[in-house]
Amino acid sequence: MINEKKYWSNRYRDKKTGWDLGKPSTPLKTYFDQLHNKEINILIPGAGNSYEAEYLYNNGFLNVDVLDISESPLTTFAVRNPSFPSDQLIEENFFDYEGQYDLIIEQTFFCSFPPEQSKRLHYAKKMSELLKPSGKLVGLWFDFPLTGDMVKRPFGGSKAEYLTYLSPYFKTLTFEKCYNSVPSRADSELFGIFEVR
Ligand SMILES: C[S@@+](CC[C@H](N)C(=O)[O-])C[C@H]1O[C@@H](n2cnc3c(N)ncnc32)[C@H](O)[C@@H]1O
Repeated sequence: MINEKKYWSNRYRDKKTGWDLGKPSTPLKTYFDQLHNKEINILIPGAGNSYEAEYLYNNGFLNVDVLDISESPLTTFAVRNPSFPSDQLIEENFFDYEGQYDLIIEQTFFCSFPPEQSKRLHYAKKMSELLKPSGKLVGLWFDFPLTGDMVKRPFGGSKAEYLTYLSPYFKTLTFEKCYNSVPSRADSELFGIFEVR
């Protein structure tokens, strides 16, 4: 089993960060732009350089927690955003983290860990545990088949497969092919809004 903290830190050190868009993704930015209540508590797990957290914070959503297993992107984020509270930059394994949020944002986190069924189900359960009653999990999940390769990321999946993990814990409010993906991800991701049961 790989040491995940070391694995991801090495990827940042070696600049092997092909997932990094360098700006907030269009679907998430569009979703954020229609939120009215800026008081809500938001968690972005597996946040990486988290241009989404930066966008939210700069637009008045002050209660955004940025969580990553690797210190490296959190340090980079702090340098980019010196006024962002340091106690909202959390270096921890998502699966060990405790908290209660109104909204959790997913983007290229689910696809980043080896696609064992038990791990994927654990992700869904953990997400539900981190949400307040009626809290929402919102984000993007890749829509391309798993290849059986357990090493090369990102790991794919299908809407039907994802729902087997999420449905026990969430009501599906929307889960459709994403219409406004960034060009490099066009036609290859699903946009979902799930409300905790
Ligand atoms: C593929 S990157 C995506 C980063 C970011 N979501 C983005 O869209 O740019 C996956 C991120 O998840 C983090 N990560 C992987 N496993 C984690 C875990 N168990 N707990 C917290 N973070 C984790 C990695 O360090 C990495 O920053």
